[in-house]
Amino acid sequence: MIGAARFRTHTAHGAAEVVGQSVRVAGWVHRRRDHGGLVFIDLRDRSGILQLVFHPGEAGEAHAIAGRLHLEDVVSVTGRVAARSEETVNPRIPTGRVELMVESIERLAAADPLPFSVEDEGTEPSEELRLTYRYLDTRRPRRLAALELRSRVISSIRRVLDGEGFLEVETPMLTRSTPEGARDFLVPSRLQRGEWYALPQSPQLFKQLLMVGGIERYYQIARCFRDEDLRADRQPEFTQLDLEASFVEPEDVQSLIESVLEAAFACAGVALPTPFPRMTHAEAMARYGTDRPDLRFGMEITDWSARAAASGFGVFEKAVAAGGVVRGLVVPGAGAGLSRKDGDGLMAEAVDLGAKGLVWAIVTDECGVRSPVARFLEGLPADLGAGPGDLIVLVADAEDVAQGVLGTLRGRYAMRWGMVADGWAPLWVTDFPLVEWNADERRWDPLHHPFTAPHPEDVGLLATDPGRVRSVAYDVVINGLEIGGGSIRIHDRDVQQAAFAAIGIGAEEAEAKFGFLLRALRLGAPPHGGIALGLDRLVMILAGMSSIRDVIAFPKTATGQDPLTGAPSDVDPRQLRELGVRPAG
Ligand code: AMO
Ligand code: AMP
Repeated sequence: MIGAARFRTHTAHGAAEVVGQSVRVAGWVHRRRDHGGLVFIDLRDRSGILQLVFHPGEAGEAHAIAGRLHLEDVVSVTGRVAARSEETVNPRIPTGRVELMVESIERLAAADPLPFSVEDEGTEPSEELRLTYRYLDTRRPRRLAALELRSRVISSIRRVLDGEGFLEVETPMLTRSTPEGARDFLVPSRLQRGEWYALPQSPQLFKQLLMVGGIERYYQIARCFRDEDLRADRQPEFTQLDLEASFVEPEDVQSLIESVLEAAFACAGVALPTPFPRMTHAEAMARYGTDRPDLRFGMEITDWSARAAASGFGVFEKAVAAGGVVRGLVVPGAGAGLSRKDGDGLMAEAVDLGAKGLVWAIVTDECGVRSPVARFLEGLPADLGAGPGDLIVLVADAEDVAQGVLGTLRGRYAMRWGMVADGWAPLWVTDFPLVEWNADERRWDPLHHPFTAPHPEDVGLLATDPGRVRSVAYDVVINGLEIGGGSIRIHDRDVQQAAFAAIGIGAEEAEAKFGFLLRALRLGAPPHGGIALGLDRLVMILAGMSSIRDVIAFPKTATGQDPLTGAPSDVDPRQLRELGVRPAG
């Protein structure tokens, strides 16, 4: 153990292993109880908690000092480790069979009254307060455990990749914009007045250049910066496990990542089954209405268009006649006790998500339903394989709208009606479309980034029908969360030019923005591919947390602020003048 004997010879946890010995331990005053003359203090260090006992007679001066200690004072204590009597054993803590009979104590630092309790993890202070005093928050065992897990996960990843001959290489933070679809964070240059660096949205271009550079196998625990709207699973700066390899097919990257995830999950005591199932993007969209399906439950989307077209219900008939679909979900057992008002609630929820309406029906027996439009729903339960007590919902719309709404409802209903099984459901989603239509800008945008290789069979469609081009891209999804994404890259200059052209980047613009890449592609670029995992998201699910903020030491709030340091903040006008930047008016 690192630490000077002047402060400690053992950790709290280590002391518990040496009953009968004299030890010195150091840490924080976690809890204090006075029992008549006896004073009990729970001492906390990173390893855990150790009960200190101060006898009024034997410990003399130490007892007097103990009486004056405050919560979270820092102390160093000597004493003898003693086994507790059977009645006083505390089975709730790992050191609960022992206690330290204190002989002397030194207060190393005093703590003022606390803004919130470290000891009582049951009362959650506001996030603002927790982040303002993040160093108090990380003293709480649950938070600390998340950071410990994060560190173990990172070292397990390094072990796997080092073992596979990957080199850890750092790439620049001050660079040019990398197009990953978010806004850039910009940094003004003082030496090149009027010019700007961008912080990397990912190391994408540099890792490709490393492959051209003969590195063959690269990885990095890489910080990325994206100025986008924040959510529970998004931060403006976050960490990726980023990797790239030459001379590989998708299966090579996928099985490597399965080993990486297997090792990471083992850190949390989980044996992740491999290989993961694979599903094409088209299949995921059709069955689950999303490109990141949660496979811990079934409830697939089913089609009722053919019957709906002849149901006599105007809404349905019109939708199908207009080229749309009528699709639905069956929620087993959810119909029991559902009132008309609940049904209206389901409808309002769907409308909120962008549906024009929602038909709900409760199956009463093999062929009957209770629904405001029951008379139009003949044969519905049998068609959808629903049984008595089940809830059926139907949405009529253009296919993408209906699928999108039902995909979201599927996830919500599964939570609401307790259908989500425990455990882990990883999968690969493959063959994403290369581009998607941006209706606002009236152009094709890359679904991932513009360096993703088109499916070899579809290269010819780049110029004529980009919307139908599949890509050699793959995402890894666990329990409905996108944990990572990658692809085989374009290593041919002409294909790269064609891919740029398909998204409206002409030769001149391509040369101006990505000339350095195009040049590299002309000087012997090996076939290559890779992936990046969202490390924060991975640790979040492993730690059983609901926000990546819980697994980042110093995260930003939902408004992108750091209440601890007060960033972002004003700067000295002189600094701005030096940079040639005018303050916003
Ligand atoms: P992509 O943009 O899909 O791919 O990012 C990879 C993974 O990073 C995580 N992630 C985030 N995590 C927290 N906060 C964010 N704002 C955030 N944005 C993304 C997700 C995501 O799956 N260069 C490519 C990878 C490649 O092609 O190799 C890339 O960055 O878990
Ligand atoms: P309306 O004809 O708009 O009064 O709707 C009659 C019922 O059909 C209501 O329960 C609506 O929620 C439902 N409905 C309307 N439009 C749709 C739609 N596009 N898909 C599913 N149900 C719909």
